[in-house]
Amino acid sequence: MNNLFITFEGGDGSGKSTQVNLLKDYLDNLNFETIKTREPGGTPSAEILRDLLTTGEVEKWTPMSEALLMWASRYEHLIQVIEPALNSGKNVICDRFYDSTYAYQGVAHNLGIDKMEKLKKIIIGDIEPDVTFVLDIDPKVGLKRSLDRPNQENRFESYNIDFHNKIRSAFLEIAKKNKNRCIVVDASLNEQEINNLIITVIDNLITDK
Ligand code: TMP
Repeated sequence: MNNLFITFEGGDGSGKSTQVNLLKDYLDNLNFETIKTREPGGTPSAEILRDLLTTGEVEKWTPMSEALLMWASRYEHLIQVIEPALNSGKNVICDRFYDSTYAYQGVAHNLGIDKMEKLKKIIIGDIEPDVTFVLDIDPKVGLKRSLDRPNQENRFESYNIDFHNKIRSAFLEIAKKNKNRCIVVDASLNEQEINNLIITVIDNLITDK
C-alpha cells in the first residue's frame, strides 16, 4: 500500500477528533504506520500559535492576522511533521488542514477564498490530501456539543450562529468543487456508523493504490 494523507474537516463539534482516533486505531490494527495530528498545532511552536488563536476574545485578531497565523502554524507543521512522515512512508491523519482556512477565514471572515488560494500557493504549494472527510452537522447541534465540553479553546465557538452557518455552507461548497478528494459525511449519525463509512472509503483507497 502507498501511504495516504487523510484530512478531516467540519464545523465545531462535528466529531472530527473522535473519527480521527477511530481511524488511527483501525490503521494501527492493520499494522500500517500512521500518525495523527491536528491544525492549528502539531509542533511545539504551532501549538503555541494554536493557543493564541483558539483562546480569548473573538476580537483579539483581525481576520487577516488570524489567517496569517493559521498559515504560519501550517507551514511549521507541514515542514516539520507532515512531509517527513509522508516521505518516510507513514499515513498521516490530520484534524483540519487548509480547507478550514478557506471556510473560516476565507468565507466566514470574508477575506475571500481567492486570497487564501494565493497564500496557499505561496506558503504550502501544491500539496493536497488524498482524501478529505467533511463532517457535516447543523451548527446548532455542533456548537452545543462543543460548548458542553469543558475547554478553554472556545474563541471560535463564541462567534454567532450566522458565522457558523457560513462555515457549514463553505465546507459543502468546497466539497462540491473538489469531488476527487472530498467526501461529505452526515455527522448526525452515530460514531460507529460514521467510522464504518470512513473505513469503507479508506479500504477502497488502500486497495486502489
Ligand atoms: P478544532 O477545535 O477543530 O481543533 O480547531 C480549532 C479552531 O480553529 C476551530 O474553531 C476552527 C479554527 N480554525 C480556523 O479558523 N482556521 C484554520 O485554518 C484552522 C486549521 C482552524
